[in-house]
Amino acid sequence: MQYPRHAAVLAGVGGWLPPRVVDNHELSQRLDTSDEWIRTRTGIRQRHIAAPGESTVDMAVRAGGRAIRSAGMTEVDALVLATATPDQVCPGSAPQVASGLGLGGIFALDVNAVCSGFVYALATAAGLIATGVAGRVLVIGSDTFSTLVHPDDRSTVPIFGDGAGAVVLRAGEPDEPGALGPFDLHSEGELADLLVVPAGGSKQRTSADPHDYFLSMQGTRVFRLANARMAESTRAVLDQAGLSVHEVDRFVGHQANVRILQAVAKQLGLPPERLVVNIERTGNTSAASIPLALADACCDGSLRSGHLVVLSAFGAGLTWGSTVLRWPDIKLSE
Ligand code: ACO
Repeated sequence: MQYPRHAAVLAGVGGWLPPRVVDNHELSQRLDTSDEWIRTRTGIRQRHIAAPGESTVDMAVRAGGRAIRSAGMTEVDALVLATATPDQVCPGSAPQVASGLGLGGIFALDVNAVCSGFVYALATAAGLIATGVAGRVLVIGSDTFSTLVHPDDRSTVPIFGDGAGAVVLRAGEPDEPGALGPFDLHSEGELADLLVVPAGGSKQRTSADPHDYFLSMQGTRVFRLANARMAESTRAVLDQAGLSVHEVDRFVGHQANVRILQAVAKQLGLPPERLVVNIERTGNTSAASIPLALADACCDGSLRSGHLVVLSAFGAGLTWGSTVLRWPDIKLSE
């Protein structure tokens, strides 16, 4: 089906967290860490961890189904899945998510921009809508980072959690509530080694060191870069939109560390109460973090119809980017 050129308008949102909760006290029984260290350095109190056999696709199907129902739809024309933890290295997981939702046959594509994946996937979906390839696109961020962190690594295990979040975009008008854009998106591949799983890919196929199959993170450098890039990108996207930071009602940043969100707000001159923060109960869920934060904020009423919302992310790659929208009237669904 062909559609005329249109803006991408947010029409539904949904999230899914695996039932098992691991709090900081439980972690401190097996790692050299403490609830106090994790809370004060990251803002995290607990994270949800997928059960063995519960995969990125399973969580994406749950969140995607909620977003489709929230949009009042029963089907979509295309699916873009942001993930760095697909069920298999090959093929991509999006087609399995589509089939799991009973939507086998539609366009289904994985986007791997790690923690920036959801914002990149939104831009991809908006392009599908603008070019008439699709009129309704399900965009899901789903990651199972608990499978990428070495169980004994106290510098990564406490930070990451599992989960999925999703939105539905539909073709609409650029001036209606929910219309996405502009976008500001960037990458810096020279710094890929700051956050990397060294082995198991085509460059280093095998390694004698089992740690090479898990995430290695230079946390302090990533922390500083995330602060700078998310603030720069937010300014850039607001400039493109002809808006000022004082008009922003809610800043929904990638939930990597509450101190990063606070530092970005400080640089921007944004009052801290305008930050959407749910990291204390989810940890860093990578591509799922922004849509999960949207679903949570929508649910608890802190995100309301008419709010000017900035979405901004930073992640491995390196990748980062932002977009902006006026929050539409959205009803959540089970
Ligand atoms: N418990 C106790 N102590 C710890 C722990 C822990 N879990 N982890 C590290 N430490 C120790 C370190 O060993 C170090 O000890 P030392 O001073 O004796 O050497 C000390 O605490 C300080 O360590 P730092 O790494 O300097 O701590 P920092 O304040 O930078 O916090 C953190 C670390 C939380 C990882 C922070 O750097 C951070 O959030 N980085 C950003 C992560 C991020 O944004 N990722 C986003 C992208 S994720 C993606 O795309 C996949």
